Amino acid sequence: MPLRHHLAAVFLLAAFPAVSLAESPGRAVADPAIEARVADLVGRMSLEEKVGQMVLGGWSPEFDEKEIVDGALGILSNTGEAGSVAKADARARSVRHSIPLLFSRDLIHGYRTLFPMPLGIAATFDEAAMVTAALFTAREGSAQGLDLNLGPMLDLSRDARWGRVVEGPGEDPFLARRFAATTVEGLRAGGMAATLKHFVGYGAAESGRDYNAVDLSESRLRDLYLPPFKAGIEAGAQVVMAAFNTLNGVPGTANRHTLIDILRKDWGFDGIVMSDWDAVRELVAHGVAADEREAVEKAVMAGVDMDMASGLYGEHLASLVRDGRVPMARVDEAVARVLRVKMRLGLFDPPEKRRRIDPAMAPQALARPETREAARDVARRGVVLLENEGAILPLVRPPKRVAVIGAMAADAGDHMGAWGALGRREEVPLLLDELRSRLAPHGTKVTFAAGCDDACRSTEGFDAAVKTAKSADLIIAVLGEPWWMTAESTSRTRLGLPNHQQELLDRLAATGKPIVLVVFAGRPMVLRDVVPKTRAILWTYSPGTMGGAALTDLILGEATPSGRLPMSMPRAVGQVPISYDRLPTGRPWKPGDELATRYVDEEITPLFPFGFGLSYTRFTVGPPEVARDVVGLGETVTVSTMVTNTGTRKGRESVQLYVHDVLASRSRPRRELKGFAMVDLAPGESRRVTLEVPVAELGFHDDRGHYRVEPGRFEVFVGPHSDTENKVSFTVVE
Ligand code: BGC
Repeated sequence: MPLRHHLAAVFLLAAFPAVSLAESPGRAVADPAIEARVADLVGRMSLEEKVGQMVLGGWSPEFDEKEIVDGALGILSNTGEAGSVAKADARARSVRHSIPLLFSRDLIHGYRTLFPMPLGIAATFDEAAMVTAALFTAREGSAQGLDLNLGPMLDLSRDARWGRVVEGPGEDPFLARRFAATTVEGLRAGGMAATLKHFVGYGAAESGRDYNAVDLSESRLRDLYLPPFKAGIEAGAQVVMAAFNTLNGVPGTANRHTLIDILRKDWGFDGIVMSDWDAVRELVAHGVAADEREAVEKAVMAGVDMDMASGLYGEHLASLVRDGRVPMARVDEAVARVLRVKMRLGLFDPPEKRRRIDPAMAPQALARPETREAARDVARRGVVLLENEGAILPLVRPPKRVAVIGAMAADAGDHMGAWGALGRREEVPLLLDELRSRLAPHGTKVTFAAGCDDACRSTEGFDAAVKTAKSADLIIAVLGEPWWMTAESTSRTRLGLPNHQQELLDRLAATGKPIVLVVFAGRPMVLRDVVPKTRAILWTYSPGTMGGAALTDLILGEATPSGRLPMSMPRAVGQVPISYDRLPTGRPWKPGDELATRYVDEEITPLFPFGFGLSYTRFTVGPPEVARDVVGLGETVTVSTMVTNTGTRKGRESVQLYVHDVLASRSRPRRELKGFAMVDLAPGESRRVTLEVPVAELGFHDDRGHYRVEPGRFEVFVGPHSDTENKVSFTVVE
């Protein structure tokens, strides 16, 4: 969908004030005027000045003026606020060549107003919501003078043990591609550029342990892990961050195959490749560089144009050039990339055409009502309703006494989530307070007991929590992973509720009172022992600044859940990594077949499949129909189906389209997502939903990385999640 349509949808859905926005320019293309200007400038720079452009530094609210005056920086990161950005900008422009700095920061899910964590944004299955989150994030950041987001993270992952799954779009390459494109477009519309990270394969870390080795075949790499990056580049992203991990034995920071063969040669990428944090130095620990100097040589020669945080390019690169270890041409090329991106982003434009950083006005761009409303809207859309026994939710006629149990209900940090940027605790409406104030007009009294701290390391408070629960008619338990148990370097070996939380839930359940469970989490978890104890589960991936208000909207039925799982929810840790697009095997699973692919102690299916999520109403998705049974290689398959709201409330249904290549030269996944759409329907309303899949999308890569679509029969499944059996087939001919 082109940007114009996304934005129309954004503004329609949330009634945000219209702003004038250009059509997405798509992939960045070479501009002869810029190329000439870059070449001229590079030709006039000293070696030291060139090296300076290849350094990303900063990382503290107060920048070091000397580094800027010395021309020792190309990108300045994490500078505090507009005042210091304006000062650093003026300083950089006042020295020889007046080369402006790029200002960057990790705005993973917002700047001051936090949206849900990215996995929660992906869970909306809603492109307009993805654009909204990125757009408002960039508006806040760009008003402070920031040019470049160190995101989105596009690492696919099928392994919930890996803590960083929460920073990315989940397990599926198609959803991840849409997330990539919409996020890049939204950031640009809000005034910021994107960094696609981490290139590549980082989410496939063995044992789900962060930074661990990754081993991927060329076909898997190209079918699954690369496409989101390609989609981001096609949407116009000009910066890529290399990954920490080794891929097939070679660290991302020294990987010529991924950075040169694929990114530059195959894809023609002419933007900046930066290292991850201190990753140049880490080449020594990886055991591929004898010392820091050799690490610099390896990284530069593998195509890493910019060194983040290690400071080693500044220390060693000039002498490596003088000693003939690194050709000047390679340095010139890297600097040209940095300057090209700065020019394309308008940093070299004359003052009257440039964005003005106004420190006095900048704070007014933060935490604006429309931004908070957008965060609330996206948070609502990203919550997944996993069960709702006896339609206990929404609380249309709330009971007289509700007990809220769990420290997270009253902890702003857990609402906001990891990578909190400049989020402020005092701007977070807490779930507990929202429930209290909004249930009061119904005559409902809300009591509260934490039970334990957010990680639940002690059972001391359990008796008091049980007492509070006993005196209520309904329990709203708020449990899950505290924010610091999610994101970087937070791998887990157990995927149940952490520490003593399950025990707390069991004790609450023993009171016999119905439990509505709200989970704040950073990953899919094992809910085997949780489901039988609860009547309803609302699942959220750190819902952000407005999460408490959004969850209350859903609990009270002022909005209806429509989020979908962007990762399969396993039954047991032993199933992980797990994804819906498994291959059939030579012995496909069959109930009762003892020699089929299976576990002797567990089913092979997930507890909740990819794409799953309930609503407060019911829908039927009719049989899919293909416009034509036979299509050519260059054509598009048009699939439509009738969706009906058969319940009594209005709601949104997600229609998902999966394809299975029945017979091919390689074994193909049982199904692969190729399209999705959200439909809003009133009770009794029906609508025909049409999805289009270009036949060119139906192929795969062979062992040598060549892509092809093989003619033959394809099955297409259309339904509300990845386990639907609602299908039709068509044939692709040469
Ligand atoms: C993370 C990156 C991040 C960088 C800068 C690293 O540790 O892996 O995702 O952009 O830090 O904060």
